[in-house]
Amino acid sequence: MTSLPLLSARRVTKSFSTDQAPLLVLNEISLDVMSGEFLALQGASGSGKSTLLSLLAGLDRPTSGEISLGGERLDGLTEKDLARVRREKVGFVFQSFHLVSSLTVLENVQLPVAFRLGEFTHQAKARELLERVGLWDRARFLPGKLSGGEKQRAAIARALINDPAVVFADEPTGNLDSLNGRRVLDLLEEHTVKAGRTLVLVTHDPDIADRAHRRVHLKDGRLDEFPRS
Ligand SMILES: Nc1ncnc2c1ncn2[C@@H]1O[C@H](COP(=O)(O)OP(=O)(O)OP(=O)(O)O)[C@@H](O)[C@H]1O
Ligand SMILES: [Mg+2]
Repeated sequence: MTSLPLLSARRVTKSFSTDQAPLLVLNEISLDVMSGEFLALQGASGSGKSTLLSLLAGLDRPTSGEISLGGERLDGLTEKDLARVRREKVGFVFQSFHLVSSLTVLENVQLPVAFRLGEFTHQAKARELLERVGLWDRARFLPGKLSGGEKQRAAIARALINDPAVVFADEPTGNLDSLNGRRVLDLLEEHTVKAGRTLVLVTHDPDIADRAHRRVHLKDGRLDEFPRS
């Protein structure tokens, strides 16, 4: 581990405008995540977990506060630079998968490579990842033909293909049975934490959260550390 955090949030606030008063979802959150660390983020439905993940990954901007990734401040970047940081450093497994419906499973996994290099290359690596998540036999399918759990596993393979410095995974095991859930977490750990990369994972599953180095809990817009057991 290096002494500087890979990911750092300082007094980050996020509110959404609504018909009535603005909705304050995150209230001056500060968090450091070190390189190689596995952090589990927990909290009730609607507590702001996905919102926080989007801000940390540079997919959305905070209302106020500072966010740094790999020593680079994200909150002041242009859209173009933010997109570059995401391409180069971030893998994201969305809660709702976000697979591109017109591309095959294999092409979806290759998509981050295509964004980075302009071509759908790295097929051997995409194949290896699809084999690891048990989906190679579905490589030529369109996502619409996959089950929920299969879509989730394809989304995980896609998040790993560029070997990102940090992977954000929003309930990646939520639609999987316990065997596939363990397989997916094994795969995520192998390609992130065990390779010196960082994993930030949202989960409701205490057994999954127990495998993290650290657990934090979102409630009423604030973040608390779980006491170490
Ligand atoms: N774009 C938006 N505009 C208005 N409100 C939003 C927006 N995005 C999220 N919210 C609200 O912010 C709160 C937090 O949402 P978020 O999706 O971060 O919760 P979560 O902790 O991920 O929940 P879950 O466990 O159900 O996925 C919710 O009350 C949600 O309605
Ligand atoms: Mg969520």
